[in-house]
Amino acid sequence: MSKRRVAILISGRGSNMESLIAAAKTSDFPAEIALVLSNRPDAPGLASAKAQGIATAAVDHKIHAGRASFEGSMQKMLEAHRIDFICLAGFMRLLTESFVNHWAGRMINIHPALLPAFPGLHTHERALKEGVKLHGCTVHYVVPEMDAGPIIAQAAVSVRDDDTPETLGRRVLAQEHVIYPLALRLACSGALRIEGGRVYGGGGADGALVSPAA
Ligand code: GRF
Repeated sequence: MSKRRVAILISGRGSNMESLIAAAKTSDFPAEIALVLSNRPDAPGLASAKAQGIATAAVDHKIHAGRASFEGSMQKMLEAHRIDFICLAGFMRLLTESFVNHWAGRMINIHPALLPAFPGLHTHERALKEGVKLHGCTVHYVVPEMDAGPIIAQAAVSVRDDDTPETLGRRVLAQEHVIYPLALRLACSGALRIEGGRVYGGGGADGALVSPAA
């Protein structure tokens, strides 16, 4: 089977992007990172991807009159690079229903919480405030509703009494770097089936990663 041509969409530092690039270097990985695209020309992740010889592009949302025109430019860029799968990795722009529907089943996102708990921003602060004992991260297919969509993989970490948003966030991020490549591998290998809002075929990968000691 030929490798899927993946674009990673970022807005910032790109540590999840790095984990996907590293995973895609293994010869049996079912996807290649064909493009890293950012809405911020100064995103540190762009420079890093470029330095590794990966095609990069910036589509600056600020110079576009509206979301449709911004996404139209992104779509052109994705087509120019013959992209057939998208990973959102810290991409901080909301996407329109029309863009999301165009990429339905071919676009995934990582979120730093155990969805459906804590969609949106400041997830680590909110988890601490609520006093949850398990927190974590989720990779899911993207649907028009923000931070929702069929779940491919999750990892949990224990919350410690002395955690701050920073210490908790660091342990969650380490797990993000584990499950995002795992989820991309599953999604691009043709193993997964989405039915009734659920993902089947992950072979027990989802929910199986609990790392209290991480
Ligand atoms: C990660 O915590 C990810 O879950 C969230 O945004 C952050 C991006 O970090 N969507 P990085 O740019 O991948 O380092």
